[in-house]
Amino acid sequence: MGKDFKRILTGIQSTGTPHLGNILGAIIPAIKYSQQDNTETYLFIADLHSLTQIKNAKILNENTLNTAAAWLACGLDPNKTIFYRQSDVPQVTELAWYLSCLYPFNRLTLAHSFKDKKSRLEDINSGLFNYPILMAADILLYDAQIVPVGKDQLQHLEITRNVANRFHNIYGETFILPKEDLQENNKLIQGTDGEKMSKSKNNVINIFADVKELKKQIKNIKTDSSGLQDRKDWSNCNLFKIYSLIANENEICKMKMQYENGGYGYGNIKEDLFNLINTKFKNERDKFQYYISNPEEVNLILSSGAVKAQSTANKVLNRVRKKLGY
Ligand code: ADP
Ligand code: TRP
Repeated sequence: MGKDFKRILTGIQSTGTPHLGNILGAIIPAIKYSQQDNTETYLFIADLHSLTQIKNAKILNENTLNTAAAWLACGLDPNKTIFYRQSDVPQVTELAWYLSCLYPFNRLTLAHSFKDKKSRLEDINSGLFNYPILMAADILLYDAQIVPVGKDQLQHLEITRNVANRFHNIYGETFILPKEDLQENNKLIQGTDGEKMSKSKNNVINIFADVKELKKQIKNIKTDSSGLQDRKDWSNCNLFKIYSLIANENEICKMKMQYENGGYGYGNIKEDLFNLINTKFKNERDKFQYYISNPEEVNLILSSGAVKAQSTANKVLNRVRKKLGY
């Protein structure tokens, strides 16, 4: 690696098909980020972490396929990004074991995400408890320097540096200490009910859904009770907000006038939003369908990413094994 070369790594949970909020808030910014010069990007689907919550092999695999297809459809270039499935590099679980032997039990009990999940979930397994250690291994195994994450993951990055330092105190310098690159959510995209769009709420716009489902989701967008002829307030309208996330300036201007002039109902506006999504994301929708119908191609992309990831993983793991005496 050259002096100014930066290795960026991040993981994505595969909990379903990414929605408009995930796409505009995370996927497109990450793809842009990975296209910067002098960077090498590792992006993986955290399907071992998903096992803490999903105990159905078919659903686990479908989630991986849907997530991978969404990233590829949005423009991830597997020739420029090392794109892989976490479970295809089992070396990570070996490193996680070593790290878990160096990190105090008591400190893990303080992790926010565990406390939060413990109070919400039914299945509180020890994988959930060890989640941050597996995440530390995800990062340290690849000598990652920069880890783009949301605010909720900052504590996991602290744990990662802390466990690496504990290792260094006993065995000497071994790992690269990673820095987070905090992804402030510049846009918090609202769902069809006006709350944060989220897979766990029934309020998403799935740009990859078939026409019937997409129309249904758009029909569900909450509006006020103004009638067709009424003048309408675009500045307070959830439908307008979603429309303007996707539309260009001219389209937004025209839509504002239609709100202000009246004679244009929410039904018409929803039809416009449908057409806009269908046209603007046509390429992505087609590509998504293509990948979903060709899972062997997606598997091939992920497996060849895993071969490259393994090569780095083996080098780092050998360094670690030697220090430990194995
Ligand atoms: P969800 O809440 O739908 O389960 P995740 O927690 O899997 O979403 O989030 C995946 C990524 O998408 C994160 O980087 C998160 O910040 C981003 N994201 C999720 N929902 C939104 C939203 N409504 N607006 C903007 N970004 C979002
Ligand atoms: N825990 C992260 C999340 O919920 C996903 C993840 C797993 C991750 N391993 C990682 C992110 C390593 C960054 C680096 O979003």
